[in-house]
Amino acid sequence: MTEDEPTREESAPPALSRRGLFGLAAGVGAAGLALGAGAGSAAGVAIGRSRAAEEASPVYPFTGTHQAGITTPMQDHLHFAAFDMMAGTTREDLRSLLRDWSYAAARMTQGLDVSATGAVGGSPEAPPDDTGEALGLPASGLTVTFGFGPTLFTADDGTDRYGLAALRPAGLAKLPAFLGDDLDPAASGGDLCIQACADDPQVAIHAIRNLSRIAFGRARLRWSQLGFGKTSKTSAAQATPRNLFGFKDGTANILSDDTQALADHVWVASADEPAWLAGGSYLVARKVAMLIETWDRVRLSEQQRIIGRDKSEGAPLSGGSETTAPDFDKKDAAGGLAIDARSHVHRAHPDVNDGIRILRRGYNYVDGNTDLGRLDAGLFFLSYQRSPVQFVTLQRALSTDLMNEYVRHIGSGVWAIPRGAKAGSYVGAELFT
Ligand code: HEM
Repeated sequence: MTEDEPTREESAPPALSRRGLFGLAAGVGAAGLALGAGAGSAAGVAIGRSRAAEEASPVYPFTGTHQAGITTPMQDHLHFAAFDMMAGTTREDLRSLLRDWSYAAARMTQGLDVSATGAVGGSPEAPPDDTGEALGLPASGLTVTFGFGPTLFTADDGTDRYGLAALRPAGLAKLPAFLGDDLDPAASGGDLCIQACADDPQVAIHAIRNLSRIAFGRARLRWSQLGFGKTSKTSAAQATPRNLFGFKDGTANILSDDTQALADHVWVASADEPAWLAGGSYLVARKVAMLIETWDRVRLSEQQRIIGRDKSEGAPLSGGSETTAPDFDKKDAAGGLAIDARSHVHRAHPDVNDGIRILRRGYNYVDGNTDLGRLDAGLFFLSYQRSPVQFVTLQRALSTDLMNEYVRHIGSGVWAIPRGAKAGSYVGAELFT
């Protein structure tokens, strides 16, 4: 066993009872992070989940070269959470947290409770290991993706809390201020982040709730965001969804089978710096409020001019179908450009941004309503890229985007996304070797 491979006891959440640990040792936990879909199904039935429901529900492996939840076909729901390490925690606290999180995430993605005794199999005299709201629910395509923020490596006051400052990627820094930013610190930043995506919102929420509980005493929730309705697609088999402006979103995204585009634009290469991040990526999150009521008073032709595509099919205004490449030189009947040079699609297009592309993975959100009786709604923008510079370049290009009048960026964060856990190890183990 290498230094990085957690023993079963090391992997168990500290909150587990002794009995919970025995359960892990005797049950499917013995498979550690090598849990596969098959193991998950069998054990799921053993804890009372429906075999039929499980068979219909996708199950994605937790281990692998890349973390799941990036190129995985986009699930319908999101629960995103940012965490801060607690004052006084040590390097070993961080390491044990990453082990415990990986262990629990590996189980939950296979449709299992966080431990073998889970929600109802432990002592009636102790709080259950698992909170229980996913009992009876299948894996629902759950993916759990972990990220490390700039402040994990160097705190805001410059402190190297965990001996990681030398490993900080040069490009991992708080994003620069952009024109029109109206950022709320309560929806920005975080030492760590977890993106939980699932086809059932209860399963995504169960994952964040239990990971938050496991973090007790080591990290605490800083902010979180629920998302419903994907605003992108990551697989050719998926239909293009719509955002809250009613437009198809994700048409020109990088898809999971485009290995060349993924290598060029999404995965950190082994030749890139730092070496520990090879196979990983960078995640940018932007909470973008959309002025829905204002947008809804805009005439259709103007909405289409702002986006640069038609509302019905998502075809570029230069003509063709949804998959036709936009022609930014094409003239309309009046002699003007068919696609406005300040449309969102033109400003964000690789042709005017040195070929830059990103993998978008955002979700719609509605957080109730404002004091003015308007929907507090928008797009929780998530993008994966090989370097944060890609996002920064695009966001700067969007400073003259016609869409700006209808959106406000109110939350922001950037995290390094390590490679996927190796079987028997945990996410982020490369930081501690
Ligand atoms: C509320 C905010 C946003 C909305 C409603 C929105 C909507 C859209 C729509 C409807 C499209 C056209 C269909 C498609 O190709 O997906 C699109 C494309 C795109 N958007 Fe956004 N977007 C938003 C924010 C952003 C941000 C913040 C970025 C990056 C900084 C971005 C980058 C892109 C890119 C790269 C494309 C594809 C351009 C192309 O290659 O044709 N978007 N967006």
